[in-house]
Amino acid sequence: MNTQVVAWRGDITQLNADAIVNAANSALAGGGGVDGAIHRAAGSELLQACRKIGGCPPGQAVMTEGFKLPAKFVIHTVGPIWRGGDCDENEILAACYRNSLRVAATKVCKSIAFSAISTGVYGFPKEQAVSIAVKEIYQQLPQYPYIEQLVFCCFDEGMLALYDAELAKYSA
Ligand code: APR
Repeated sequence: MNTQVVAWRGDITQLNADAIVNAANSALAGGGGVDGAIHRAAGSELLQACRKIGGCPPGQAVMTEGFKLPAKFVIHTVGPIWRGGDCDENEILAACYRNSLRVAATKVCKSIAFSAISTGVYGFPKEQAVSIAVKEIYQQLPQYPYIEQLVFCCFDEGMLALYDAELAKYSA
């Protein structure tokens, strides 16, 4: 596998990756957090494109253009709302990462940046979410050998430290 997998601290709306992955809601209605930041940066055409799609079930992913963003595309995935861990939250979160890669492949994206899905408003325990995200990405990457760079975008030092510690377990 020749994909560079890194954690990076900053605002995902500034990354000119082929695709950035948004933590959306099932209505694709925009919102706060990273969803709000992406919609603000992309402009109103993004909400129009999301309305055309209509919605996205938790664990699934859909794709739009990036419009005014530096990124070519936005992949909207809907993470699980944390309800204590007995409602398939772990599997739904893993599916977000798996399906985001599957959707990115339809445009042969060579660089993809993920926000930390469900770790904000949706309340997923951060350390557990990071472990699921990194494990699923490493399990899926061999299917997509053309991906050159995959970025876990962290909005604060705490998340960056969690991702760096988890990624260290996978570096040979
Ligand atoms: N760039 C990168 N990461 C960001 C940014 C940004 N500009 N803004 C926030 N984040 C981080 C948060 O710090 C958190 O680690 O994104 C992660 C996901 O948090 P949320 O955006 O709250 O997403 P989530 O927990 O999945 O909740 C989704 O919140 O905004 C609404 O419409 C959204 O209903 C949906 C819900």
